[in-house]
Amino acid sequence: MNKTYLLAPGPTPVPEKVNLEMAAPMIHHRTPQFSKIFGEAAEDAKYLFQTKQDVMILASTGTGGMEACITNLFSPGDKVLVINGGKFGERWGKISQTYGLEPVWINVEWGQAVKVADVKAELDKNPDIRGVLVQASETSTTVSHPIEEISKLTRQRDDLLLVVDGITAVGVYPLPMDEWGIDAVITGSQKALQLPPGLALVSLSEKAWKQAEKAKCPHFYFDLAKERKNLADKTTAYTPAVSLVIGLREVLKNIKEEGLENVHKRHNRLARATRAAVKALGMQPVAPDSPADSATGMFIPEGVDGGKLVKSLRDEFGVTLAGGQDKWKGKVVRIAHLGYVDTFDTVVAIAALEMALNKFGANVQMGKGVAAAQEILLEAYCK
Ligand SMILES: Cc1ncc(COP(=O)(O)O)c(C=O)c1O
Repeated sequence: MNKTYLLAPGPTPVPEKVNLEMAAPMIHHRTPQFSKIFGEAAEDAKYLFQTKQDVMILASTGTGGMEACITNLFSPGDKVLVINGGKFGERWGKISQTYGLEPVWINVEWGQAVKVADVKAELDKNPDIRGVLVQASETSTTVSHPIEEISKLTRQRDDLLLVVDGITAVGVYPLPMDEWGIDAVITGSQKALQLPPGLALVSLSEKAWKQAEKAKCPHFYFDLAKERKNLADKTTAYTPAVSLVIGLREVLKNIKEEGLENVHKRHNRLARATRAAVKALGMQPVAPDSPADSATGMFIPEGVDGGKLVKSLRDEFGVTLAGGQDKWKGKVVRIAHLGYVDTFDTVVAIAALEMALNKFGANVQMGKGVAAAQEILLEAYCK
């Protein structure tokens, strides 16, 4: 027997109850029955996004939500500021270029968060920039960018939008869209939303909707104004991902029940515990200064082949963690805290990592990381 554990930053585990809900016989989407489910999911999504604005539910992965924001908010030739601190920051730039926008790049060293002063300097230098495109949580480097501080710059101007990829931040740590004045927030179903891949959720501010009226990038499927109009009638422009929406309603109900603040606290506790384990094991965190609570990345000790380590963890230990991407391929391992993940998933991840490192000859003391994590994880049971 080899029991498996999915602890990578997406897709993430799906709760049994949600799987059962989604396994119900298919229903037609143009029915009062589905509209009720869709309407409830869309309403509860506002709670998750901490907004009064509509949250559009698209049949797409997260990247589709990013693309929808570009094409619905901007026009060819528009200058946008791209915070490129990892694989997903780079993606903002690539999508922008695809649609003829002019990205102004801030290249951030991997493992570091963007400096707000650098954002301000670029905005001052290029007053014609129309959007700041950034990740709240840059999953490839496990870094959290300073969204609240950036929002203080963007919300002063009517002609400048803050577009935040919250794909591994929404439902993980606070990203209060209305309070901070964020203009676009995106998330995806296979992260903190505890669902299979296939849904992107997008919400826009009033300022963004005004900008959308003038945007000229071509788009057909991802027409957010059309989706908003349909949402008012509790439906979608095209066939929705019916089963995923049924699952979404269930997950959002559970998140509301747990309370968003508690959901954030849980992610933070698991992340702090894992960071303590990394330290106790004498490993180097990849994001020492501004770690995100979505996943914790660490450099693999010298002499250990990271590719083989992650493969062995998955195929022999049954524990799926994530390796490094691009220039960190084979050098980094990432443990996710996202979604339907709790105390003992984290213990499993750390214990398995310690064992696998020993298998590959690394000099780490088994149990030391687990013990350090347990000290923090115990908080949950000592209220
Ligand atoms: C921060 C971030 N942005 C974008 C994406 C892309 O999302 P998808 O693979 O759902 O298109 C991911 C996926 O891991 C992500 O973590």
